[in-house]
Amino acid sequence: MKITSAEFVMSNSSVAKCPKEALPEYAFIGRSNVGKSSLINMLVNQKSLAKTSGRPGKTQLINHFKINKNWFLVDLPGYGYARVSKKDKKTFQKYITEYFQKRKQLVCAFVLVDIRHEPQPIDLEFMEWLGTNGVPFAIIFTKADKLKPGAIDRQVQNYMQVLLDTAWEESPTYFITSSTHRFGKEALLDYIEKINTQVNQNNSTLN
Ligand code: GTP
Ligand code: MG
Repeated sequence: MKITSAEFVMSNSSVAKCPKEALPEYAFIGRSNVGKSSLINMLVNQKSLAKTSGRPGKTQLINHFKINKNWFLVDLPGYGYARVSKKDKKTFQKYITEYFQKRKQLVCAFVLVDIRHEPQPIDLEFMEWLGTNGVPFAIIFTKADKLKPGAIDRQVQNYMQVLLDTAWEESPTYFITSSTHRFGKEALLDYIEKINTQVNQNNSTLN
């Protein structure tokens, strides 16, 4: 799929205030600093449509970006960021939880994990929670530029094995990406395009 337009629409902290249009949307979620906002910029060929930072905790709201005038990318705050206060953490958790439970337009969540790290309980628990709540998701491994090809394969295989050994009967769909090397873009956009086509064919109610 070619990206012909990508516009910021709104930021807010409540699912009730998100755009009302019945367009399919894809949310990026994962630990702070994993590269959610950077990946959105890479996908849409813009340097700073989504705000990024070397310091964790940059994205603090639900951010909607309208793509090709007919679907949304959603940038969310990271979970597991220790430096926000306990109260802020609770607020984040509440609206992120609500977003995933209530947002009918959400057709796929992308859970981002840093390819260098072993599977972390917070990510595994979040994926289980998505499963329990019936939210379809795929995994995106980020920062692949930091590892050599052999190490990438080992990390991915190990991650899938841990998922199979714990909660899952089948490996989830996954993508390997690097925003700095602009790697993984076509595969991700093709995946999104396929889901968009299915949604349009099914004429399913998104609202
Ligand atoms: P929060 O909004 O704080 O939750 O973080 P985020 O997940 O949106 O991460 P962000 O995109 O702001 O990136 C965090 C840091 O990781 C920045 O310093 C980025 O430059 C860096 N980064 C993101 N993607 C990549 C990548 O593919 N490779 C490398 N080497 N660095 C990356
Ligand atoms: Mg961010």
